[in-house]
Amino acid sequence: MRFAKLVPTLVLVGFVVMACGGSGNGGTTPKKIALLLPESKTARYESKDRPFFTDKLKALCSDCQLIYSNANQDAPTQQTQAEAALTNGANVLVLDPVDGAAAAAIVAKAKAKNVPVVSYDRLILGTADLNYYLSFDNAAVGALQGTALLTALNGKANASVVMINGDPADNNAKLFKQGAHSILDGKVQIKKEYDTPSWSPDTAQKEMAGALVALGNKVDGVLAANDGTGGGAIAAMKAAGVKPLPPVTGQDAELAAIQRILAGDQYMTVYKAIKAEAEAAATLAYDLATGTAVPTSMTNGKTVNNGAKDIPSVLLTPVAVTKANIKDTVVADGFWTKADICTADFATACTAAGIS
Ligand code: BGC
Repeated sequence: MRFAKLVPTLVLVGFVVMACGGSGNGGTTPKKIALLLPESKTARYESKDRPFFTDKLKALCSDCQLIYSNANQDAPTQQTQAEAALTNGANVLVLDPVDGAAAAAIVAKAKAKNVPVVSYDRLILGTADLNYYLSFDNAAVGALQGTALLTALNGKANASVVMINGDPADNNAKLFKQGAHSILDGKVQIKKEYDTPSWSPDTAQKEMAGALVALGNKVDGVLAANDGTGGGAIAAMKAAGVKPLPPVTGQDAELAAIQRILAGDQYMTVYKAIKAEAEAAATLAYDLATGTAVPTSMTNGKTVNNGAKDIPSVLLTPVAVTKANIKDTVVADGFWTKADICTADFATACTAAGIS
């Protein structure tokens, strides 16, 4: 799904239209909360993170204002958007950084204005001024992908694997890669491995096409870091006439990926409960903006070091999804409904997977 053309640079959403000069909350100024997301080629941000965050914030605080922007995978754009949010009077930044290291400069600008920053999904590196980090256990995501790939390879000797990793500027990509290597190294032959700038599915497709040429189409498995790159790898294999397709991993439980799994084109994805992540972020942002003490149960003392400091952290648990448990994971959780998944082309596969 591509939303790039539909996404305005910065959107200011007031949940309540203020009555002539009235504040609506007893004379105090309504709080402004900025949500800064990194890109729009990956479906989750516009279709899940943004609406879940918006709805939760609205429920917590009917007169809060949400300042929303999407950087379309450009770090300088994100810096400008963050500065605009601060100029606009944002009381807290919830920032999913395009570039984890570069985003430390945003934290410094926020700190200068006493505005707390929550590192959302991706860790902001090398700054002691970051307030919170809220994400999934990302090394576990890579380990789930590696473990599923080994299961699919079913002990095949000397299996040839291609690894399509994510954007090296994203700390998550590093963790996914480490997690996958921790499972695969010594058990399969990793014949080709690529980092994929900007997580671009088109680049992933080119990387896979190159690997197929180099390996004479002999690939037993593909460790793709997310559904976008997995989709690119599958497209390259189809174009090169690879049949049957080898097992391919993914992440995000995108609708297109769930349907590819049903069709047998993709082996697995990783479901991350984005609703829980976005709602926890909205709750944390609300507490920080209003000066409410953050309950200790939020982090339970958990921290993650970002190279400068142990940052109080919330890490949610990812879940591996194959054809066998689509029904008990993404459908049971309401992430996708049966109607979303089981369109005419997938009706038979849905019945076979027990989703009908
Ligand atoms: C996120 C993934 C996403 C990827 C590309 C990662 O940081 O955790 O869910 O697929 O970025 O946007």
